[in-house]
Amino acid sequence: TNMSVIGVPMDLGQNRRGVDMGPSALRYAGVIETLQRLKYNVNDLGDIPISRPDNKESRQEDNLRNLHQVAEANQKLAEMAEQEIAKNRFPLILGGDHSIAIGSLAGIAKHYKNLGVIWYDAHGDLNCAETSPSGNIHGMPLAVSLGIGHEKLTNILDYQPKIKPENIVIVGARSLDPEERELIREKGIKVFTMHEIDRMGMTNVMTETIDYLQENTDGVHLSLDLDGLDPEEAPGVGTPVLGGLSYRESHLAMEMLAESKIITSAEFVEVNPILDDKNKTATLAVGLVGSLFGEKLK
Ligand code: ARG
Ligand code: MN
Ligand code: MN
Ligand code: MN
Repeated sequence: TNMSVIGVPMDLGQNRRGVDMGPSALRYAGVIETLQRLKYNVNDLGDIPISRPDNKESRQEDNLRNLHQVAEANQKLAEMAEQEIAKNRFPLILGGDHSIAIGSLAGIAKHYKNLGVIWYDAHGDLNCAETSPSGNIHGMPLAVSLGIGHEKLTNILDYQPKIKPENIVIVGARSLDPEERELIREKGIKVFTMHEIDRMGMTNVMTETIDYLQENTDGVHLSLDLDGLDPEEAPGVGTPVLGGLSYRESHLAMEMLAESKIITSAEFVEVNPILDDKNKTATLAVGLVGSLFGEKLK
């Protein structure tokens, strides 16, 4: 398989510096070598340039921090992701904070009528300016992709929505804001919270997820936020939440996805080496990349 790796050193979708070094940390931990070892033909496209913010506290446009820079970077990412799929290359995107899913999904969803999305995350990322407690755009990408939010974000590549609520599965949720819960209910988004994962076990959760998406989608994007894992295993993230997914549950999930062959694009986001413990989180992420791309099957 041909694969294109796109780094997005974005830290403007939230307010803790360092997550812009995520792509370097992942490369340092051997992401490219891992993929090559698994016999992928890897084209590393390097990192997308990100503009600096005008000032430190730029909540431009009411409660949308760094809107213009985030929109601009996502526009570039969307164009690149779109082109790589057009060339029949699997796009693997390395973050950067989760606001980059706006561009990934804008570019990728162009090629699908019914793109499925697995949102592996402690959070729903379903806020908009009106509901966000923080003004951080990394808490908004899933809403944006549903067409909810500022036009500069929702209308990248001039179409919307990018995805449909019935094609989304959130896995690992344990920190949902009140209005995010409302939106989930209203739109009928499928969510496996930590409660369900504890009760059902990850095997059943992933079996249901795969069956559910396989039925109605023509491609599935995995958006993996490292804060979906427990901060014990993934300390290098900006918004850690206790009680997360374990190392073993996460590898199992990736291995089941590899077996299912449903994943057609992926991104790994929110690795922050400044907050990390000797690159532990990037190393963990690269291990998960290995499992997702068939380590166990080789
Ligand atoms: N719900 C919170 C917010 O809107 C936290 C979002 C965290 N998102 C993330 N991608 N880590 O600010
Ligand atoms: Mn920075
Ligand atoms: Mn998160
Ligand atoms: Mn997230």
